[in-house]
Amino acid sequence: MTEGAAHSQRPAPPLRTARLTLREFLPSDLEALQALAGDARVLEYAPAESRALEAVRRARAPPAVRRRPARRRSYELAVVLQRGGKLIGACDLALSGPRAADIGYMLAPRHWGHGYGTEVAQALVAFAFGALALERLSAVVAIENDRSRRVLENAGLVWEGLMRRHLRVRGRTWDCHLYVIDRRRWLAISTPCAAAPARGS
Ligand SMILES: CC(C)(COP(=O)(O)OP(=O)(O)OC[C@H]1O[C@@H](n2cnc3c(N)ncnc32)[C@H](O)[C@@H]1OP(=O)(O)O)[C@@H](O)C(=O)NCCC(=O)NCCS
Repeated sequence: MTEGAAHSQRPAPPLRTARLTLREFLPSDLEALQALAGDARVLEYAPAESRALEAVRRARAPPAVRRRPARRRSYELAVVLQRGGKLIGACDLALSGPRAADIGYMLAPRHWGHGYGTEVAQALVAFAFGALALERLSAVVAIENDRSRRVLENAGLVWEGLMRRHLRVRGRTWDCHLYVIDRRRWLAISTPCAAAPARGS
């Protein structure tokens, strides 16, 4: 896919994982998303006004107001269970340069601990280096957010540095870790090793 096509204003195709679909928001998602984004456990390390809420409000706006810029700068996606279609979270990928982006995600606490966060991050990584043909993907995580660090590591991102006093959430300032994966690493970890010797040879 060319760069122009990748960042056009067309809706993103749904991204499927083993158990989830990541899709564009629908106007009917607002209530579930507001409940999610209003949960204190979800908001512990995240700003209340998420890009996801903006995306749903945009989806509910009249068509004349809904137009996106010609070149899309971010993808805010609903996280829904394939079985039953329930919305359990939200995630986003925001371009930070011509070939680079940042990702973020949040899930309803009753669904934590089942590997969904890892599936979401893995799907965003595959989307970034596959359809969007990016070179670098990063995520910023508050230093106490150990769950999210594990999710990023599970998806292949590696620690790149400490960003002191980077995030301010409801009056509290957090030091943050910067996690990164580049295309070369993605190819290395997503391609089966062709050179591996066959057993017994
Ligand atoms: C971060 C979040 C998406 C994780 O979702 P999840 O579905 O629970 O993630 P997973 O089940 O895939 O993985 C969680 C990992 O954290 C680990 N974990 C769980 N509880 C933990 C804890 N208290 N301390 C450290 N690690 C913990 C799990 O063992 C697992 O790691 P593993 O796969 O190596 O065993 C979810 O907690 C969330 O929405 N948090 C609020 C919003 C947020 O913080 N977003 C990220 C901003 S950077």
